[in-house]
Amino acid sequence: MASITIRNLDEAAKRALRERAARNGRSMEEEARLLLAADAGLAPGPDADTGTGQRNAAVRGDSGPDGLAGFAGAGKTVLLILCGGVAAYKSLDLIRRLRERGVTVRCVMTAAARQFVTEMAVGAICGGTVFHDLWDRQAEHDIGHIRLAREADLIVIAPATADFLAKMANGLADDLASAVLLAARRPVLAAPAMNPAMWANPATQRNVRRLADDGVHFVGPERGEMAESGEAGLGRMAEPMAIVARVGALLDTRPRPLSGRKALVTSGPTHEPIDPVRYIANRSSGRQGHAIAAALAELGAEVTLVSGPVGIADPSGVTAVHVETARQMQAAAEAALPVDLAVMVAAVADWRTADSAECKIKKQPGGEPPMLRMTENPDILHGIGHHPARPALVVGFAAETNDVIDNAKAKLARKGADWIVANDVSAEGGAMGGVRNTVHLVSTEGVEDWPDLPKDEVARRLARRVAEWFARREKA
Ligand code: CTP
Repeated sequence: MASITIRNLDEAAKRALRERAARNGRSMEEEARLLLAADAGLAPGPDADTGTGQRNAAVRGDSGPDGLAGFAGAGKTVLLILCGGVAAYKSLDLIRRLRERGVTVRCVMTAAARQFVTEMAVGAICGGTVFHDLWDRQAEHDIGHIRLAREADLIVIAPATADFLAKMANGLADDLASAVLLAARRPVLAAPAMNPAMWANPATQRNVRRLADDGVHFVGPERGEMAESGEAGLGRMAEPMAIVARVGALLDTRPRPLSGRKALVTSGPTHEPIDPVRYIANRSSGRQGHAIAAALAELGAEVTLVSGPVGIADPSGVTAVHVETARQMQAAAEAALPVDLAVMVAAVADWRTADSAECKIKKQPGGEPPMLRMTENPDILHGIGHHPARPALVVGFAAETNDVIDNAKAKLARKGADWIVANDVSAEGGAMGGVRNTVHLVSTEGVEDWPDLPKDEVARRLARRVAEWFARREKA
């Protein structure tokens, strides 16, 4: 059976295929397969409106700012540092994805990285020399580590291991990769990848905080299964397309639609103490609120994220304030005012115990279980919606298990919000704690039903709607 290699097509055919694929939100291979099948009368053809093209494009962002056409990083140079981790195999795909978007990728490998992927494979995919030796006279003569650092528009470290993050945080420079970083004056983006225990280790977390204070950007890590151990947890390297999206955002020097706007986002649950060891909580994961904070930041907003206790990392590019209780969340949210926009996504506990015990409540042998007397928590959204420094646009969420739209409309009026994003949080809806969401955007202008989408995509759509709202307001 003959096979076709897209790399071997002539340049004009390759360009045409690339443009078609980008338009339809598919890979070039997929586009070629569909074209051939259509030509043989086996399929409706790549241009047929099956809806999938648009859906894929929406999910992968190929027609958006991270897509092939109009990628913000096109024409720029990324210096990619590969460290030693199983995830290094994903960096090969990352190089490919960046190059097909017009980015020049120069690669530096640590000694450990060369244990996981070969210099030959990295060199073939990046289409150039791979640098690894600080003491290589020829390489130092040709380009040198100072120039390597200075000639890049952005430095990406993927995978960034715990060891390398520790070196970076302490300014060590005993190999080419760390020396390059110390000499760098360009933005740095790290995609950590390591075992969950290593990520959670206080030493790693201390290093990550120090690096974030130094201005290093982070993408991931994500939660999932570890390739090497079969364990699961937070530590997997972000997917190549998520890294590409961050690269695009960091290299984008065009003014962004929310540049100059300040936003407040609340996210996650609150924990209301019963005694020093017990608390009342809910199933909120913080995924939707965090994704909205990240999406607003990507459009240029200066975001303060007030988050209850969650198991996910702070999105980079936002100022995160961590709280536990509803009253702490209210204080932090009001301290963030004035802002142009507030999006209140947190699943705030409606009640707390009227008097939380100072000591652990003990079981009384043969006694009655304790009675908890509850009192109402402040309504943070209501407070922001009626505040003297009320933001120009106030967006609330409505978590409903029944009569979703009617309840959301009632909340819109009651809480002083401009929009309510209503979602079904019944067990069948699966929104709370899950990764997808089906929402309805309720405003005084009407109700819009959005399709079932990943939470990241709900966030991007909402951020775009917010940007449009501010653009319209400016024109009026
Ligand atoms: N909210 C808030 N402070 C509270 C309760 C809710 O800021 N104490 C906000 C949420 O962040 C969300 C909106 O109000 O934006 C609606 O939250 P939801 O839990 O759906 O409604 P409740 O006001 O709690 O009403 P109910 O539980 O009766 O549906």
